[in-house]
Formats: sequence, C-alpha cells, structure tokens
Amino acid sequence: METEVGNKRWHEPGEQVEVAVWLNGEQVVLATEPRKTLADTIRAAGYTGTHLGCEHGVCGSCTVLVDGRPVRSCLMLAVQAEGRRVETVEGLALGEQLHPIQRAFHEGGALQCGFCTPGFLMLATGVLREDPHAGADKVCERLTANVCRCTGGVPITQAVLAAQREMYGAGE
Ligand code: FES
Ligand code: FES
Repeated sequence: METEVGNKRWHEPGEQVEVAVWLNGEQVVLATEPRKTLADTIRAAGYTGTHLGCEHGVCGSCTVLVDGRPVRSCLMLAVQAEGRRVETVEGLALGEQLHPIQRAFHEGGALQCGFCTPGFLMLATGVLREDPHAGADKVCERLTANVCRCTGGVPITQAVLAAQREMYGAGE
C-alpha cells in the first residue's frame, strides 16, 4: 500500500511495483520493489547475463545501456528506468549470429573466466556507438571504466579495436 503524508510518498516493505521499459527492443513490464536496483530486477526477470560483482559502482560488471549509454545497473533503481530503453548482453547477438564485438572477444581470446565480459561488451557497444571513430587511446581510456581480474586490459582493448575496424573502419 502506498502511503502519502504531506508531499512524501512511500511503499510498504516488500510491496511490488510495475516498471514498464523497452528491454532489448521489446516493451516489458517488470515487477520489482521500489528499493531494488535495475541489476537485481532484470536478473530476477531472467536476464542473468548482467553480472553483479562489487555491487557498489566500482567494477562495471553490471554495465547495461540505458537510452544508449553505459550505466552501472547496480547503482540505478529499477523505477528510474520507467519508459526508458534498456539493453543487456542478451540483446547483442542476432539469433545465432554474434555481434561483431562478441565475435572479436571470442576470436581474440579477450576473456578467461568471462565474469566481466558482459559488462565489457555493453561498455564497448556504448563507447563505439557514441564515437564510432574514436582513436585507440580514447577507446582504451573509456574501457578502463571496467575491471577485469584475469584477462588483462590488452586483449580486451585489442578485441574492441578489431570490432571497431570491422564495424566502422579505422579509428582516428
Ligand atoms: S556490480 Fe555494479 S559496478 Fe560492480
Ligand atoms: S575474464 Fe575473468 S574477470 Fe575478466
């Protein structure tokens, strides 16, 4: 039950609310609690490709795109996504056909355990969409937003640059 006192409103603990979002191009209604993060909410809805590492905005494993821009979904409440476009790693491939960035990670050995990979894939997708001809230095700098504990940054950056060449030609 929603309670209203003066200009403040709050929900009872455990109370569910509905959040309508465009998730990977489809309009869906997610059931969640007002206190729950976007990460927890999409994972509970079955989109478990979004990984949770630190859960406080440091590692970037939970990165998704919101209205086309990389966002740490552990720091965003699900209710803040109402009406917005959310993209997760599940939306990258076209059926059996991997996205060029996914293929470059696979072919370039840009993962070991793979825990950080969905976050890097979404970060790289957002970075290249925002600036398709970004130079190697800029791509490298933007990728430092996320943390990989086992592969190291070089193969990941090389994979993203290879995908960039395939998708857009060389960077600046
Ligand atoms: S789990 Fe969100 S930044 Fe680490
Ligand atoms: S591949 Fe293991 S943490 Fe990045």
